[in-house]
Amino acid sequence: MIVTFLIFALTFILFLLGVLFYLAPRSKNVTTIPGLDPSDDISGNIDDITAAGSFHEFLVDLHDKFGPVASFWYGPKYCISVASAPAFKDVQHLTDRPAVLFDFLEPLLGPRSIQIATGTLGMERHKRSIDALSHQVSSVVFPQFIQITKELCDAWKSFSANEHIPLHEYMMALSIRMISTTQFGAFFRKNPDNIKALASLYHEVMKGMDDILTGKLTPADTEKYGEFQGKIDAFKSLVRQIILSHKTARDNGDYEVAPLLDSLLDHTEDEDQLLGDVIAFFVGGFHTTGNLLTWLFYYLAMMPDIQEKAFNEIVANVGQSCDLQAEEVHKLQFCSQVIDETLRMSITAPFGARVNSSAEMTVLGHRIPQATPIITALGVSLRDKKYFPDPEEFDPNRFGKKVPSLAFAPFGIGKRHCPASKFARMEIFAVLSVILAQFRVKPAFDNDVFIEPSFGFVTKPETEVWLTLERRN
Ligand code: HEM
Repeated sequence: MIVTFLIFALTFILFLLGVLFYLAPRSKNVTTIPGLDPSDDISGNIDDITAAGSFHEFLVDLHDKFGPVASFWYGPKYCISVASAPAFKDVQHLTDRPAVLFDFLEPLLGPRSIQIATGTLGMERHKRSIDALSHQVSSVVFPQFIQITKELCDAWKSFSANEHIPLHEYMMALSIRMISTTQFGAFFRKNPDNIKALASLYHEVMKGMDDILTGKLTPADTEKYGEFQGKIDAFKSLVRQIILSHKTARDNGDYEVAPLLDSLLDHTEDEDQLLGDVIAFFVGGFHTTGNLLTWLFYYLAMMPDIQEKAFNEIVANVGQSCDLQAEEVHKLQFCSQVIDETLRMSITAPFGARVNSSAEMTVLGHRIPQATPIITALGVSLRDKKYFPDPEEFDPNRFGKKVPSLAFAPFGIGKRHCPASKFARMEIFAVLSVILAQFRVKPAFDNDVFIEPSFGFVTKPETEVWLTLERRN
Protein backbone atom coordinates (compact mmCIF):
# COMPACT_ATOMS: atom_id res chain seq x y z
CA MET A 1 0.00 0.00 0.00
CA ILE A 2 2.80 2.37 1.07
CA VAL A 3 4.84 1.41 -2.01
CA THR A 4 1.86 2.14 -4.27
CA PHE A 5 1.40 5.49 -2.55
CA LEU A 6 5.11 6.33 -2.95
CA ILE A 7 5.02 5.44 -6.65
CA PHE A 8 1.89 7.58 -7.09
CA ALA A 9 3.45 10.51 -5.14
CA LEU A 10 6.69 10.30 -7.15
CA THR A 11 4.81 10.16 -10.46
CA PHE A 12 2.70 13.14 -9.39
CA ILE A 13 5.80 15.19 -8.39
CA LEU A 14 7.48 14.35 -11.74
CA PHE A 15 4.30 15.40 -13.55
CA LEU A 16 4.24 18.71 -11.63
CA LEU A 17 7.90 19.35 -12.42
CA GLY A 18 7.16 18.64 -16.09
CA VAL A 19 4.28 21.14 -16.07
CA LEU A 20 6.43 23.75 -14.32
CA PHE A 21 9.26 23.26 -16.81
CA TYR A 22 6.84 23.58 -19.71
CA LEU A 23 5.20 26.73 -18.36
CA ALA A 24 8.34 28.45 -17.05
CA PRO A 25 9.37 31.55 -19.09
CA ARG A 26 12.39 30.58 -21.16
CA SER A 27 14.79 32.95 -22.85
CA LYS A 28 14.27 33.04 -26.60
CA ASN A 29 17.73 34.49 -27.12
CA VAL A 30 19.41 32.83 -30.09
CA THR A 31 22.95 34.12 -29.35
CA THR A 32 25.13 34.75 -26.31
CA ILE A 33 24.30 38.45 -26.62
CA PRO A 34 22.35 39.72 -23.62
CA GLY A 35 19.01 41.27 -24.39
CA LEU A 36 15.25 41.34 -24.19
CA ASP A 37 12.89 38.45 -24.68
CA PRO A 38 9.92 39.32 -26.88
CA SER A 39 7.01 40.71 -24.88
CA ASP A 40 4.75 39.16 -27.48
CA ASP A 41 5.37 36.39 -30.04
CA ILE A 42 4.08 38.48 -32.95
CA SER A 43 4.92 42.07 -32.05
CA GLY A 44 8.17 41.24 -30.23
CA ASN A 45 9.30 44.34 -28.31
CA ILE A 46 7.27 46.85 -30.35
CA ASP A 47 5.12 47.62 -27.27
CA ASP A 48 8.31 48.30 -25.29
CA ILE A 49 9.48 50.68 -28.04
CA THR A 50 6.13 52.49 -27.90
CA ALA A 51 6.32 52.66 -24.11
CA ALA A 52 9.85 54.12 -24.24
CA GLY A 53 8.49 57.03 -26.31
CA SER A 54 10.78 56.58 -29.30
CA PHE A 55 13.12 54.07 -30.85
CA HIS A 56 16.15 56.08 -29.66
CA GLU A 57 14.93 56.16 -26.04
CA PHE A 58 14.23 52.42 -26.24
CA LEU A 59 17.84 51.89 -27.38
CA VAL A 60 19.17 54.06 -24.55
CA ASP A 61 17.32 51.87 -22.00
CA LEU A 62 18.35 48.67 -23.79
CA HIS A 63 22.07 49.53 -23.70
CA ASP A 64 21.85 50.88 -20.15
CA LYS A 65 20.59 47.50 -19.08
CA PHE A 66 22.61 45.14 -21.27
CA GLY A 67 25.79 46.99 -22.33
CA PRO A 68 27.23 47.92 -25.75
CA VAL A 69 25.85 44.89 -27.65
CA ALA A 70 22.27 43.93 -26.93
CA SER A 71 19.43 42.08 -28.60
CA PHE A 72 15.70 42.73 -29.01
CA TRP A 73 12.80 41.62 -31.20
CA TYR A 74 11.42 43.90 -33.90
CA GLY A 75 8.12 42.08 -34.41
CA PRO A 76 9.05 38.43 -34.87
CA LYS A 77 12.56 39.36 -36.08
CA TYR A 78 15.57 38.91 -33.79
CA CYS A 79 17.81 42.02 -33.97
CA ILE A 80 21.07 43.22 -32.49
CA SER A 81 21.94 46.77 -31.49
CA VAL A 82 25.54 47.99 -31.13
CA ALA A 83 26.42 51.20 -29.31
CA SER A 84 30.15 51.74 -28.80
CA ALA A 85 33.24 52.44 -30.89
CA PRO A 86 34.74 48.90 -30.40
CA ALA A 87 31.41 47.32 -31.40
CA PHE A 88 31.13 49.65 -34.43
CA LYS A 89 34.61 48.49 -35.46
CA ASP A 90 33.29 44.93 -35.79
CA VAL A 91 30.34 45.91 -38.01
CA GLN A 92 31.78 48.78 -40.05
CA HIS A 93 32.64 46.50 -43.01
CA LEU A 94 28.95 45.72 -43.59
CA THR A 95 27.29 47.67 -46.38
CA ASP A 96 23.81 46.11 -46.73
CA ARG A 97 20.66 47.54 -45.15
CA PRO A 98 18.04 45.24 -43.55
CA ALA A 99 14.82 45.84 -45.50
CA VAL A 100 12.76 44.51 -42.58
CA LEU A 101 13.67 47.50 -40.38
CA PHE A 102 12.79 49.96 -43.14
CA ASP A 103 9.34 48.53 -43.91
CA PHE A 104 7.86 51.57 -42.20
CA LEU A 105 9.37 53.80 -44.93
CA GLU A 106 7.97 51.78 -47.82
CA PRO A 107 4.70 53.75 -48.17
CA LEU A 108 6.87 56.82 -48.83
CA LEU A 109 9.97 55.47 -50.58
CA GLY A 110 8.58 52.39 -52.32
CA PRO A 111 10.31 49.00 -52.46
CA ARG A 112 13.55 49.88 -54.27
CA SER A 113 14.87 53.08 -52.72
CA ILE A 114 18.54 53.73 -51.89
CA GLN A 115 17.76 53.27 -48.17
CA ILE A 116 17.36 49.51 -48.64
CA ALA A 117 19.53 48.99 -51.74
CA THR A 118 21.92 46.08 -51.16
CA GLY A 119 24.81 44.25 -52.82
CA THR A 120 27.18 45.62 -55.45
CA LEU A 121 24.43 47.55 -57.22
CA GLY A 122 23.39 49.17 -53.94
CA MET A 123 26.94 50.34 -53.28
CA GLU A 124 27.28 51.60 -56.86
CA ARG A 125 24.22 53.80 -56.30
CA HIS A 126 25.65 54.93 -52.96
CA LYS A 127 29.02 55.84 -54.55
CA ARG A 128 27.36 57.82 -57.33
CA SER A 129 25.53 59.87 -54.72
CA ILE A 130 28.81 60.52 -52.87
CA ASP A 131 30.19 61.96 -56.13
CA ALA A 132 27.17 64.24 -56.60
CA LEU A 133 27.46 65.47 -53.01
CA SER A 134 31.27 65.60 -52.80
CA HIS A 135 33.40 68.30 -51.23
CA GLN A 136 34.22 69.51 -54.74
CA VAL A 137 30.56 69.87 -55.78
CA SER A 138 29.75 71.49 -52.42
CA SER A 139 32.56 74.01 -52.96
CA VAL A 140 31.16 74.93 -56.38
CA VAL A 141 27.66 75.55 -54.99
CA PHE A 142 28.96 77.14 -51.75
CA PRO A 143 28.35 80.73 -53.00
CA GLN A 144 24.70 79.75 -53.51
CA PHE A 145 24.42 78.61 -49.87
CA ILE A 146 25.86 82.00 -48.86
CA GLN A 147 23.51 83.92 -51.18
CA ILE A 148 20.36 82.07 -50.04
CA THR A 149 21.26 82.74 -46.39
CA LYS A 150 21.96 86.42 -47.13
CA GLU A 151 18.48 86.70 -48.63
CA LEU A 152 17.00 85.28 -45.43
CA CYS A 153 19.02 87.78 -43.35
CA ASP A 154 17.82 90.64 -45.56
CA ALA A 155 14.23 89.59 -44.87
CA TRP A 156 14.98 89.42 -41.13
CA LYS A 157 16.44 92.94 -41.23
CA SER A 158 13.00 94.31 -42.13
CA PHE A 159 11.57 92.89 -38.86
CA SER A 160 11.25 95.07 -35.76
CA ALA A 161 13.89 94.54 -33.05
CA ASN A 162 11.66 92.50 -30.73
CA GLU A 163 10.06 90.34 -33.39
CA HIS A 164 9.88 86.70 -32.30
CA ILE A 165 11.40 84.42 -34.92
CA PRO A 166 10.15 80.80 -35.28
CA LEU A 167 13.62 79.31 -35.75
CA HIS A 168 12.66 75.75 -36.72
CA GLU A 169 10.24 76.91 -39.39
CA TYR A 170 12.89 79.21 -40.89
CA MET A 171 15.71 76.65 -40.77
CA MET A 172 13.59 73.98 -42.45
CA ALA A 173 12.60 76.40 -45.23
CA LEU A 174 16.23 77.53 -45.60
CA SER A 175 17.40 73.91 -45.90
CA ILE A 176 14.73 73.13 -48.49
CA ARG A 177 15.86 76.13 -50.51
CA MET A 178 19.54 75.14 -50.31
CA ILE A 179 19.08 71.51 -51.34
CA SER A 180 16.45 72.24 -53.99
CA THR A 181 18.35 75.13 -55.61
CA THR A 182 21.69 73.33 -55.75
CA GLN A 183 20.65 69.73 -56.41
CA PHE A 184 17.09 69.51 -57.78
CA GLY A 185 16.67 72.06 -60.58
CA ALA A 186 14.72 75.30 -60.86
CA PHE A 187 11.25 74.03 -59.85
CA PHE A 188 11.15 75.89 -56.53
CA ARG A 189 12.79 79.02 -57.87
CA LYS A 190 10.05 79.34 -60.48
CA ASN A 191 7.34 78.91 -57.88
CA PRO A 192 8.56 79.59 -54.30
CA ASP A 193 5.12 78.79 -52.82
CA ASN A 194 5.91 75.15 -53.47
CA ILE A 195 8.47 75.29 -50.63
CA LYS A 196 5.70 75.98 -48.13
CA ALA A 197 3.51 73.23 -49.61
CA LEU A 198 6.38 70.75 -49.47
CA ALA A 199 7.36 71.70 -45.90
CA SER A 200 3.81 71.34 -44.63
CA LEU A 201 3.22 67.96 -46.32
CA TYR A 202 6.62 66.78 -45.09
CA HIS A 203 5.72 67.52 -41.43
CA GLU A 204 2.54 65.48 -41.67
CA VAL A 205 4.17 62.60 -43.52
CA MET A 206 7.09 62.38 -41.04
CA LYS A 207 4.74 62.45 -38.06
CA GLY A 208 2.98 59.41 -39.58
CA MET A 209 6.33 57.69 -40.25
CA ASP A 210 7.49 58.22 -36.67
CA ASP A 211 4.15 56.91 -35.37
CA ILE A 212 4.50 53.79 -37.53
CA LEU A 213 8.08 53.25 -36.30
CA THR A 214 6.89 53.30 -32.68
CA GLY A 215 3.72 51.29 -33.31
CA LYS A 216 1.36 54.24 -32.65
CA LEU A 217 -0.07 54.09 -36.18
CA THR A 218 -0.97 50.82 -37.92
CA PRO A 219 -2.97 49.98 -41.06
CA ALA A 220 -5.60 48.53 -38.70
CA ASP A 221 -6.51 52.10 -37.76
CA THR A 222 -8.15 52.54 -41.17
CA GLU A 223 -9.28 56.15 -40.80
CA LYS A 224 -5.97 57.60 -39.59
CA TYR A 225 -3.95 55.37 -41.91
CA GLY A 226 -6.11 56.49 -44.84
CA GLU A 227 -5.43 60.15 -44.00
CA PHE A 228 -1.71 59.42 -43.75
CA GLN A 229 -1.79 57.64 -47.12
CA GLY A 230 -3.52 60.71 -48.65
CA LYS A 231 -0.67 62.98 -47.43
CA ILE A 232 1.90 60.61 -48.88
CA ASP A 233 0.14 60.65 -52.26
CA ALA A 234 0.11 64.47 -52.25
CA PHE A 235 3.80 64.55 -51.29
CA LYS A 236 4.72 62.11 -54.06
CA SER A 237 2.74 64.08 -56.58
CA LEU A 238 4.74 67.23 -55.71
CA VAL A 239 8.03 65.34 -56.06
CA ARG A 240 6.89 63.96 -59.45
CA GLN A 241 6.46 67.60 -60.55
CA ILE A 242 10.05 68.40 -59.49
CA ILE A 243 11.36 65.51 -61.59
CA LEU A 244 9.18 66.35 -64.57
CA SER A 245 10.09 70.03 -64.47
CA HIS A 246 13.83 69.23 -64.58
CA LYS A 247 13.42 66.49 -67.19
CA THR A 248 11.48 68.84 -69.48
CA ALA A 249 14.09 71.59 -69.04
CA ARG A 250 16.84 69.09 -69.85
CA ASP A 251 15.03 67.86 -72.94
CA ASN A 252 14.68 71.47 -74.09
CA GLY A 253 18.38 72.04 -73.47
CA ASP A 254 17.57 75.00 -71.22
CA TYR A 255 18.37 73.90 -67.68
CA GLU A 256 20.56 74.46 -64.66
CA VAL A 257 22.91 71.66 -63.66
CA ALA A 258 21.54 69.63 -60.74
CA PRO A 259 24.31 67.12 -59.91
CA LEU A 260 22.21 64.74 -57.82
CA LEU A 261 19.00 64.78 -59.87
CA ASP A 262 21.02 64.59 -63.11
CA SER A 263 22.91 61.58 -61.80
CA LEU A 264 19.68 59.85 -60.70
CA LEU A 265 18.01 60.57 -64.06
CA ASP A 266 21.04 59.32 -65.98
CA HIS A 267 21.27 56.03 -64.09
CA THR A 268 17.70 55.05 -63.20
CA GLU A 269 15.36 53.31 -65.64
CA ASP A 270 12.71 52.30 -63.15
CA GLU A 271 10.16 55.07 -62.41
CA ASP A 272 9.35 53.83 -58.87
CA GLN A 273 13.02 53.62 -57.97
CA LEU A 274 13.62 57.12 -59.33
CA LEU A 275 10.74 58.55 -57.30
CA GLY A 276 11.88 56.71 -54.14
CA ASP A 277 15.46 57.92 -54.54
CA VAL A 278 14.52 61.52 -55.24
CA ILE A 279 12.34 61.52 -52.11
CA ALA A 280 15.09 59.85 -50.04
CA PHE A 281 17.70 62.42 -51.08
CA PHE A 282 15.36 65.38 -51.01
CA VAL A 283 13.97 64.63 -47.55
CA GLY A 284 17.38 63.41 -46.34
CA GLY A 285 18.73 66.65 -47.72
CA PHE A 286 16.63 68.98 -45.61
CA HIS A 287 15.21 67.28 -42.56
CA THR A 288 18.62 66.50 -41.08
CA THR A 289 20.22 69.85 -42.00
CA GLY A 290 17.12 71.87 -41.04
CA ASN A 291 16.99 70.30 -37.58
CA LEU A 292 20.74 70.51 -37.09
CA LEU A 293 20.68 74.23 -37.89
CA THR A 294 17.79 74.73 -35.47
CA TRP A 295 19.74 73.05 -32.65
CA LEU A 296 22.87 75.01 -33.58
CA PHE A 297 21.25 78.43 -33.20
CA TYR A 298 19.28 77.26 -30.15
CA TYR A 299 22.53 76.29 -28.34
CA LEU A 300 24.21 79.54 -29.43
CA ALA A 301 21.27 81.57 -28.15
CA MET A 302 21.43 79.74 -24.83
CA MET A 303 25.23 80.16 -24.55
CA PRO A 304 26.16 83.76 -25.41
CA ASP A 305 29.86 83.26 -24.55
CA ILE A 306 30.21 80.48 -27.08
CA GLN A 307 28.29 82.57 -29.61
CA GLU A 308 30.67 85.53 -29.13
CA LYS A 309 33.71 83.30 -29.50
CA ALA A 310 32.35 81.87 -32.78
CA PHE A 311 31.44 85.37 -33.99
CA ASN A 312 34.94 86.69 -33.20
CA GLU A 313 36.52 83.83 -35.11
CA ILE A 314 34.35 84.58 -38.15
CA VAL A 315 35.18 88.30 -38.05
CA ALA A 316 38.91 87.63 -37.55
CA ASN A 317 39.05 85.34 -40.59
CA VAL A 318 36.39 86.63 -42.95
CA GLY A 319 35.35 90.05 -41.66
CA GLN A 320 31.66 90.94 -41.46
CA SER A 321 31.11 90.99 -45.21
CA CYS A 322 29.52 87.50 -45.08
CA ASP A 323 31.61 86.34 -48.01
CA LEU A 324 33.19 83.21 -46.62
CA GLN A 325 34.78 81.23 -49.45
CA ALA A 326 34.70 77.43 -49.58
CA GLU A 327 38.50 77.23 -49.31
CA GLU A 328 38.45 79.37 -46.13
CA VAL A 329 36.12 77.08 -44.19
CA HIS A 330 39.04 75.20 -42.61
CA LYS A 331 40.12 78.42 -40.86
CA LEU A 332 36.98 78.37 -38.70
CA GLN A 333 38.32 75.85 -36.20
CA PHE A 334 36.16 76.87 -33.22
CA CYS A 335 33.02 77.07 -35.39
CA SER A 336 33.82 73.56 -36.58
CA GLN A 337 33.97 72.41 -32.94
CA VAL A 338 30.62 74.10 -32.24
CA ILE A 339 29.09 72.26 -35.23
CA ASP A 340 30.54 68.93 -34.05
CA GLU A 341 29.26 69.47 -30.52
CA THR A 342 25.81 70.31 -31.94
CA LEU A 343 25.85 67.11 -34.00
CA ARG A 344 26.77 65.20 -30.83
CA MET A 345 24.36 66.87 -28.42
CA SER A 346 21.34 67.05 -30.71
CA ILE A 347 21.67 63.42 -31.90
CA THR A 348 20.34 64.63 -35.25
CA ALA A 349 20.18 61.14 -36.77
CA PRO A 350 19.91 58.67 -33.85
CA PHE A 351 20.61 55.38 -35.62
CA GLY A 352 21.80 53.56 -38.72
CA ALA A 353 21.27 49.92 -39.69
CA ARG A 354 23.10 47.06 -41.35
CA VAL A 355 22.64 43.37 -42.07
CA ASN A 356 25.28 40.63 -42.41
CA SER A 357 23.63 39.21 -45.55
CA SER A 358 26.42 36.90 -46.69
CA ALA A 359 27.93 35.27 -43.60
CA GLU A 360 27.75 34.90 -39.85
CA MET A 361 30.14 37.11 -37.91
CA THR A 362 31.22 38.09 -34.42
CA VAL A 363 30.72 41.34 -32.53
CA LEU A 364 32.82 41.80 -29.37
CA GLY A 365 33.32 38.02 -29.36
CA HIS A 366 29.62 37.11 -29.72
CA ARG A 367 28.57 35.04 -32.74
CA ILE A 368 25.87 36.64 -34.85
CA PRO A 369 23.93 34.39 -37.24
CA GLN A 370 23.86 35.32 -40.93
CA ALA A 371 21.09 37.76 -41.99
CA THR A 372 20.62 39.36 -38.56
CA PRO A 373 19.52 43.03 -38.68
CA ILE A 374 22.03 45.16 -36.75
CA ILE A 375 21.16 48.63 -35.46
CA THR A 376 24.03 51.06 -35.04
CA ALA A 377 22.82 53.08 -32.06
CA LEU A 378 24.76 56.23 -33.03
CA GLY A 379 22.83 58.39 -30.57
CA VAL A 380 23.69 56.15 -27.63
CA SER A 381 27.40 56.16 -28.51
CA LEU A 382 27.42 59.97 -28.85
CA ARG A 383 26.81 60.04 -25.07
CA ASP A 384 29.57 57.51 -24.26
CA LYS A 385 31.27 58.82 -21.07
CA LYS A 386 34.52 57.16 -22.07
CA TYR A 387 34.98 59.57 -24.97
CA PHE A 388 32.71 62.40 -23.86
CA PRO A 389 33.04 63.15 -20.12
CA ASP A 390 29.96 64.98 -18.77
CA PRO A 391 28.12 63.93 -21.94
CA GLU A 392 25.04 66.06 -21.22
CA GLU A 393 27.08 69.27 -21.20
CA PHE A 394 27.42 71.37 -24.36
CA ASP A 395 31.17 71.86 -24.59
CA PRO A 396 32.73 72.55 -28.02
CA ASN A 397 36.20 72.42 -26.43
CA ARG A 398 35.98 68.65 -26.18
CA PHE A 399 36.60 68.66 -29.96
CA GLY A 400 39.80 70.70 -29.48
CA LYS A 401 41.61 67.38 -29.53
CA LYS A 402 41.10 64.45 -31.88
CA VAL A 403 38.19 62.15 -31.06
CA PRO A 404 38.29 58.64 -32.63
CA SER A 405 36.08 58.60 -35.75
CA LEU A 406 34.05 55.60 -34.59
CA ALA A 407 33.32 57.27 -31.23
CA PHE A 408 32.02 60.38 -32.99
CA ALA A 409 29.92 59.08 -35.87
CA PRO A 410 26.91 61.39 -36.34
CA PHE A 411 26.90 60.57 -40.07
CA GLY A 412 27.11 56.81 -39.54
CA ILE A 413 29.94 54.33 -39.91
CA GLY A 414 31.94 52.56 -42.62
CA LYS A 415 31.43 52.75 -46.38
CA ARG A 416 27.65 53.08 -46.11
CA HIS A 417 27.80 56.23 -43.97
CA CYS A 418 25.79 59.32 -45.02
CA PRO A 419 26.78 60.17 -48.61
CA ALA A 420 26.14 63.87 -47.92
CA SER A 421 28.29 64.43 -44.83
CA LYS A 422 30.60 66.87 -46.66
CA PHE A 423 27.74 68.66 -48.42
CA ALA A 424 25.85 69.08 -45.12
CA ARG A 425 28.90 70.47 -43.30
CA MET A 426 29.46 73.04 -46.05
CA GLU A 427 25.82 74.15 -45.87
CA ILE A 428 26.09 74.55 -42.11
CA PHE A 429 29.34 76.56 -42.28
CA ALA A 430 27.77 78.90 -44.85
CA VAL A 431 24.62 79.52 -42.80
CA LEU A 432 26.53 79.92 -39.52
CA SER A 433 29.01 82.43 -40.96
CA VAL A 434 26.35 84.62 -42.61
CA ILE A 435 23.84 84.72 -39.74
CA LEU A 436 26.35 85.18 -36.90
CA ALA A 437 28.17 87.96 -38.76
CA GLN A 438 24.95 89.98 -38.92
CA PHE A 439 22.92 89.05 -35.85
CA ARG A 440 23.29 88.22 -32.19
CA VAL A 441 20.70 85.46 -31.61
CA LYS A 442 18.86 85.50 -28.29
CA PRO A 443 16.16 83.31 -26.80
CA ALA A 444 12.71 84.90 -26.91
CA PHE A 445 11.84 82.53 -24.04
CA ASP A 446 13.37 82.46 -20.56
CA ASN A 447 16.99 81.38 -20.64
CA ASP A 448 16.33 78.48 -18.30
CA VAL A 449 13.61 77.00 -20.48
CA PHE A 450 14.97 73.80 -21.93
CA ILE A 451 13.58 72.80 -25.33
CA GLU A 452 12.86 69.07 -25.21
CA PRO A 453 14.07 66.92 -28.09
CA SER A 454 11.56 64.81 -29.96
CA PHE A 455 13.37 61.69 -31.18
CA GLY A 456 12.17 60.07 -34.37
CA PHE A 457 13.96 59.09 -37.54
CA VAL A 458 15.65 62.48 -36.95
CA THR A 459 15.66 64.58 -33.78
CA LYS A 460 13.63 67.75 -33.85
CA PRO A 461 12.68 70.17 -31.09
CA GLU A 462 9.46 69.18 -29.30
CA THR A 463 8.18 72.75 -29.60
CA GLU A 464 9.04 75.70 -31.83
CA VAL A 465 12.21 77.57 -30.80
CA TRP A 466 11.44 81.29 -30.62
CA LEU A 467 14.37 83.68 -30.97
CA THR A 468 14.92 87.41 -31.16
CA LEU A 469 17.64 88.88 -33.35
CA GLU A 470 19.89 91.79 -32.41
CA ARG A 471 21.59 93.39 -35.40
CA ARG A 472 25.34 93.74 -35.23
CA ASN A 473 26.91 96.83 -36.75
C1 HEM B 1 23.34 67.17 -40.46
C2 HEM B 1 23.13 66.53 -41.56
C3 HEM B 1 23.02 65.03 -41.72
C4 HEM B 1 23.18 64.01 -40.82
C5 HEM B 1 23.49 64.11 -39.32
C6 HEM B 1 22.98 62.76 -41.54
C7 HEM B 1 23.06 61.50 -40.98
C8 HEM B 1 22.89 60.32 -41.68
C9 HEM B 1 23.03 59.01 -41.11
C10 HEM B 1 23.39 58.70 -39.67
C11 HEM B 1 22.79 58.10 -42.09
C12 HEM B 1 22.81 56.57 -41.96
C13 HEM B 1 24.22 56.11 -42.13
C14 HEM B 1 24.43 54.69 -41.70
O1 HEM B 1 23.52 53.86 -41.83
O2 HEM B 1 25.55 54.40 -41.23
C15 HEM B 1 22.49 58.84 -43.29
C16 HEM B 1 22.18 58.27 -44.51
C17 HEM B 1 21.74 58.97 -45.59
N1 HEM B 1 21.72 60.34 -45.72
FE1 HEM B 1 22.33 61.70 -44.35
N2 HEM B 1 22.69 63.05 -42.85
C18 HEM B 1 22.73 64.42 -43.01
C19 HEM B 1 22.53 65.12 -44.18
C20 HEM B 1 22.12 64.57 -45.36
C21 HEM B 1 21.86 65.30 -46.58
C22 HEM B 1 22.10 66.81 -46.74
C23 HEM B 1 21.44 64.39 -47.52
C24 HEM B 1 21.07 64.59 -48.97
C25 HEM B 1 21.51 65.54 -49.72
C26 HEM B 1 21.43 63.09 -46.87
C27 HEM B 1 21.04 61.92 -47.50
C28 HEM B 1 21.19 60.66 -46.94
C29 HEM B 1 20.85 59.42 -47.65
C30 HEM B 1 20.20 59.31 -49.03
C31 HEM B 1 21.20 58.37 -46.80
C32 HEM B 1 21.08 56.87 -47.13
C33 HEM B 1 22.24 56.52 -48.05
C34 HEM B 1 22.39 55.04 -48.35
O3 HEM B 1 21.77 54.22 -47.71
O4 HEM B 1 23.16 54.70 -49.25
N3 HEM B 1 21.86 63.24 -45.59
N4 HEM B 1 22.56 60.19 -43.02
